[in-house]
Amino acid sequence: MTDQSSNQMWGGRFAAGPDAIMEAINASIGFDKRMAAQDIAGSRAHAAMLAATGVITDNDAEAIREGLLTVLSEIESGGFQFSTALEDIHMNVEARLKEVIGEPAGRLHTGRSRNDQVATDFKLWVRDQFDAAEKGLLALIKALVDQAEAGADWVMPGFTHLQTAQPVTWGHHMMAYVEMFGRDLSRVRDARARMNESPLGAAALAGTSFPIDRDMTASALGFDRPAANSLDAVSDRDFALEFLSTASICAVHLSRFAEELVIWSSAQFRFVTLSDRFSTGSSIMPQKKNPDAAELIRAKVGRIFGANTALMMVMKGLPLAYSKDMQEDKEQVFDAADNWMLALAAMEGMVKDMTGNRESLAAAAGSGFSTATDLADWMVRVLKVPFRDAHHVTGALVAMAEGRGCDLPDLSLEDMQGVHEGITEDIFTVLGVENSVNSRMSYGGTAPAQVRAQVKRWKDILAG
Ligand code: ARG
Repeated sequence: MTDQSSNQMWGGRFAAGPDAIMEAINASIGFDKRMAAQDIAGSRAHAAMLAATGVITDNDAEAIREGLLTVLSEIESGGFQFSTALEDIHMNVEARLKEVIGEPAGRLHTGRSRNDQVATDFKLWVRDQFDAAEKGLLALIKALVDQAEAGADWVMPGFTHLQTAQPVTWGHHMMAYVEMFGRDLSRVRDARARMNESPLGAAALAGTSFPIDRDMTASALGFDRPAANSLDAVSDRDFALEFLSTASICAVHLSRFAEELVIWSSAQFRFVTLSDRFSTGSSIMPQKKNPDAAELIRAKVGRIFGANTALMMVMKGLPLAYSKDMQEDKEQVFDAADNWMLALAAMEGMVKDMTGNRESLAAAAGSGFSTATDLADWMVRVLKVPFRDAHHVTGALVAMAEGRGCDLPDLSLEDMQGVHEGITEDIFTVLGVENSVNSRMSYGGTAPAQVRAQVKRWKDILAG
């Protein structure tokens, strides 16, 4: 005789119910209830297919499909009683379906298993998140392109090692991030296309002897095709790993930009003013306006990459096919997805609202000997001096200017001729930062004309 407290879904071979600790470690309902809509969509597709292939009657399928909608509306309205004893979303939904429609509910699980069911639900959930990430990235890219267009010719210092290197344009700097987020976008699309195969009908691991139609359920759920190997279908979490690794790389980009915004908005830089809407104040220092959104975006990479690492570790030693370890996939992905979407939206909001301080940017662009390379290039071009020699002469001039506490254009022609007699008045035309950026016309260079060409290219891409 089966113990009354044993599980109603699989209690047949059990004489006793689970220990409370067992129930606690086993249950996933606390988090996988987020997949309720996907679970019900999968079950509705499965029931329709079972009827179409004659495995169950049309009447039973209709009762199941209608009953599932009732369950869904109970869940959506918050009236559903989730039970830990029923472990997960799959069994919670099925048990409630039984209460709602009675006997036909027991026919729903024909020709499938929770193993293909959970893989299907989770794929549907992750697919939605890829779509949300695509939208978030497109919005962020658009905000950056708008900034780039507005300031295509604003000069600012370009840095390497965070030391002033050469003048660049604001537009060019914004478009650098457009390229980065553009690669994220292509990774998202790429991974989404690769993951879009249906596990449903792989059953526990080996397929099923029922004459199911996996093409039918695949297309009902918007998959491109059924997954081709049932063992792989139930054990594959590559889609989740690709989601997390794509999110991780994107989070690195978000974090790098956030770091620049933190630096740029400081009183020492004043390159940008962040809007009040995306800043906070200090409870003790009245003058402060803190770039908290940027700082939090910078921090998000930690948990997103942590999720990626965690799931890699969960998966790395698992034999085929399903193991319960895989239940640990969902919380990582849920948390990473929530925070990725939030970070994308916050970054978009900050970029849209921020003001580049054109004067501060221009003032900084001219300091720090940023046109030293232009001076050396001028000597090569006009005086036909080998670049290495020109580099040496320019270095001497920089040292001279540094010694006097001035910038290169402040040196007199006589000073310069004292270091290299060939230098003429013409040198001053290249020492201006505007000339410097305008001259960088190589493809992908910082010249405003090049930036505008890239802005146009991206506007065309965004217009689809
Ligand atoms: N809650 C489970 C999970 O998230 C569903 C699959 C359970 N399958 C099983 N054979 N116990 O992975």
